[in-house]
Amino acid sequence: MKIKTKDLLTLDELTKDELSKIIDLAIKLKKDLKKGKNQPLLKNKTLAMIFQKPSTRTRVSFEVGMFQLGGHALNLSSDDLQLSRGESIEDTAKALSRYVDVIMARVYDHKTIETLAKNSSVPVINGLSNSFHPCQTLADLMTIKEKKRKLSGLKIAWIGDGNNVCNSLIYGCSKSGINISVATPRGYEPDSKVVKQAKKSIKIEITTHPLTSAKNADVVMTDTFSSIHNRDPKRIKRFFPKFQVNPSVMKTAKNNAIFLHCLPAKRGNEVTSSVIDGPKSVVWDEAENRLHTEKALLLSMSI
Ligand code: CP
Ligand code: NVA
Repeated sequence: MKIKTKDLLTLDELTKDELSKIIDLAIKLKKDLKKGKNQPLLKNKTLAMIFQKPSTRTRVSFEVGMFQLGGHALNLSSDDLQLSRGESIEDTAKALSRYVDVIMARVYDHKTIETLAKNSSVPVINGLSNSFHPCQTLADLMTIKEKKRKLSGLKIAWIGDGNNVCNSLIYGCSKSGINISVATPRGYEPDSKVVKQAKKSIKIEITTHPLTSAKNADVVMTDTFSSIHNRDPKRIKRFFPKFQVNPSVMKTAKNNAIFLHCLPAKRGNEVTSSVIDGPKSVVWDEAENRLHTEKALLLSMSI
């Protein structure tokens, strides 16, 4: 199946059916890989990866994913490109489109990835912007589906910053029939446009009370209080300790609730070690699933 959208910038571009098919394909690719079946379906294809910010999982999962599919990935730090000397995003997009089959970029301003997509003749994937992180949501939904055997009808508690990961997650929930409760301090809520749209299809609650969110949750999620683009040390005072995922939050969620975190994590800030390193945590499966979902996404795009 090929998805209709040329680019994946927020996750909202996917239909419900396309999203569900990408997740199922990722689950299949994971099983195939473990059985030693690995088809070079992207032979002779090249992915350019542009990084304005650091990355461990996104970089490695895309690079290994392309390798496993028989293709090739180029790691391009924006400091090494002529971008650092003032070449425009528009011209960079046009030049790269003449060499590679797909571009993934991690950027600060979300407008940068929009401009890149608009000026590229090849598909563009958002590998994280200040506003969205769609590839993370694919891996998160895959992990939840593997563990809970379904998506529709579940409840996620997001406790912490209403950030880029949270915005794409809300789109993912709204396309998968998952209800979500976000507990965050006032002023740190997810994008109001995203929330408004999700309200049309799922139950979405925004609260300042973590235990209200956690009640009856099947999945508890959080992310660092300080994102790469948002490192003001004063932020922590707004979040800590009230919005930390700790054993009492997990006890308030359902007995069989699981804990997810996109990583990197700061133990002792947004989550205690006892939770992230405890029996309910599935963060390493979630990190692994970045590989399988990146591959499923690449195979679903027109490259
Ligand atoms: N979760 C995630 O995107 O990790 P990296 O910043 O290491 O890519
Ligand atoms: N919200 C975090 C996610 C890192 C993967 C950030 O933007 O830094």
